[in-house]
Amino acid sequence: MKIIGTGSVLPKKIVTNDMLSEFLDTSDEWISTRTGVRSRHVISDERLEDMATEAALKALDSAGMKAADLDYIICSNVVNEYITPQLSCIIQGGIGATCPCIDINCACAGFIYALQIAESFNIAGTVRNVLIVCAEEPTRMTDWSDRRTCVLFGDGVGAAVLTEGSNIRGFRMSASSATDKLWQYRTLQPTPYITKEEKDVPLQMKGQDVFKFAVKASSTDITRLLKDNGLKASDVDHVLLHQANIRIINAIRDFLGLEDDKFPSNIADHGNSSSSSCPILLDECSRKGLFKPGDRIVMSAFGAGFVSGAVLLEW
Ligand code: COA
Repeated sequence: MKIIGTGSVLPKKIVTNDMLSEFLDTSDEWISTRTGVRSRHVISDERLEDMATEAALKALDSAGMKAADLDYIICSNVVNEYITPQLSCIIQGGIGATCPCIDINCACAGFIYALQIAESFNIAGTVRNVLIVCAEEPTRMTDWSDRRTCVLFGDGVGAAVLTEGSNIRGFRMSASSATDKLWQYRTLQPTPYITKEEKDVPLQMKGQDVFKFAVKASSTDITRLLKDNGLKASDVDHVLLHQANIRIINAIRDFLGLEDDKFPSNIADHGNSSSSSCPILLDECSRKGLFKPGDRIVMSAFGAGFVSGAVLLEW
């Protein structure tokens, strides 16, 4: 397939590091040097499903495609206010599409997994036009009195429209179960038969383990992807990494031995917006005119699970 349109929407509320240090024992200096984040967009009175619908319409508009022409909608989402129905069905109604749709939860790697699903459906001959929407509000998962987690995240939606073509050149995906490293637990409705102890637990993270996994998984995925395609790292024009921590990005950059200007980044203004981070960055770079036809782009993301994935695109 090929990506022919992108769109993104951010919540209007911007929270700076200094605003966080008003109620947390933290500082702009600590957060910006350890993570690269200076501010983030945080959901306040918006609803994620409305932002997702708006981003989908922007992506369709930039693709010059009507919702009626879509054959499938894939929504990547970790949490939202609905347990059911799936967010993709809400987006389908919001944009006036009639095609089948599906939600996936692959944490921060959701955009890459969604691209691979779209590509596989297309190869199977079942779809021509696909809308991917990554809609995330990770700021609703963290404990806002926990300085180790809540400072990292921001919310937002990124979307992409794909049609038949040969822009996507290959994938490398991985999963390795490590469920104690990054997790959140929420209780469901009680029943007369529940006897086990249950309580809500906000996002828990073993930061250094996640950091090491992220660098290793992304470096391995990208190395394998390049080898599959007979390319060297220097043959790649742009590397769009999941925006989790600027030190993770820099470690992967050093592993690949590439110049800094091949790694566009928006982490300073967005923080980690989970699976939305890659498509928001793609949309921003594309609208700024960063990509020329024929540019080789690698995107790579990693997240809770652990899961990871990388894709090679030719723009
Ligand atoms: N402000 C000030 N101090 C903080 C802080 C904050 N926001 N967060 C943690 N600290 C403190 C810790 O309490 C600790 O203090 P102590 O030594 O007195 O116990 C100290 O800073 C060092 O903590 P540590 O966890 O070792 O820091 P770190 O250098 O590993 O950085 C992360 C922490 C979370 C920034 C880093 O591990 C990371 O980015 N990990 C990956 C996270 C990630 O990407 N998650 C999502 C993946 S999709």
